[in-house]
Amino acid sequence: MEEPEIVGAGDNSSIAMQLIKQGAEARVYSYTFMGKSTIVKERFKKRYRHPVLDNKLTHRRTSQEVRSILKCRKAGMCTPTVYFVDYETHRIYMENIENATTVRNYIASEQQKGTDLTSLMALAEKIGTDLAKMHDIDVIHGDLTTSNMLLRQPPGASPVIMIDFGLSYVSSLHEDKGVDLYVLERAFLSTHPNTEKIFDCVLSSYRKSSTKSTDVLKKLDEVRMRGRKRSMVG
Ligand SMILES: Nc1ncnc2c1ncn2[C@@H]1O[C@H](COP(=O)(O)OP(=O)(O)OP(=O)(O)O)[C@@H](O)[C@H]1O
Ligand SMILES: [Mg+2]
Repeated sequence: MEEPEIVGAGDNSSIAMQLIKQGAEARVYSYTFMGKSTIVKERFKKRYRHPVLDNKLTHRRTSQEVRSILKCRKAGMCTPTVYFVDYETHRIYMENIENATTVRNYIASEQQKGTDLTSLMALAEKIGTDLAKMHDIDVIHGDLTTSNMLLRQPPGASPVIMIDFGLSYVSSLHEDKGVDLYVLERAFLSTHPNTEKIFDCVLSSYRKSSTKSTDVLKKLDEVRMRGRKRSMVG
């Protein structure tokens, strides 16, 4: 692991950033910014890409991420507060959702407990309502998985906090929204075995909440069918 870097984001502080996650595209650090517990998400250079193209793509991802976080928040969803964006270093400084657990871990631990489905059904309802809010303002997340949704403590009482909008974009096409839901469906059912009922609840909550759900869910069916045909052909 790398040495913690000493940074100062214009706040005259020189506190070490602690690496908490090294991904393929970004590093996530914890940091104290203006006295606040902060997450720094930094997109790093990809050496195999042409530097000009790389800079352009990285800039785009960073600005898309920030824009979507703000838009979704305005639409009434929970997203981390953005404190500061540095387009030179491609760093986003945002609120650290402290002691957060991912929806992925929460589902796994509830399933392990083996209790009834009440808590997971309630969570599925919340996810469906949030996705409806997001799609109704034409934000497509682009990477919907249960790892990109956080819950505060205690998780059962927490709203869903959507993160990781680096692949997000704006589109009003039902097809794009259907694909967004399909990506989540695939991720959900493959990460969490025997959760068909819970995922159905995500979709029925989406159906009730979104103004354009009929068309989007029709597209979801088409996308599923295409997916099946592809896997039959091989
Ligand atoms: N605001 C936050 N508060 C608390 N934890 C966070 C926050 N943002 C990210 N994390 C933690 O860091 C992990 C990785 O963050 P994120 O999903 O944004 O990055 P990534 O998957 O590496 O990014 P990308 O897919 O853009 O390469 C999350 O799953 C979560 O555990
Ligand atoms: Mg992620």
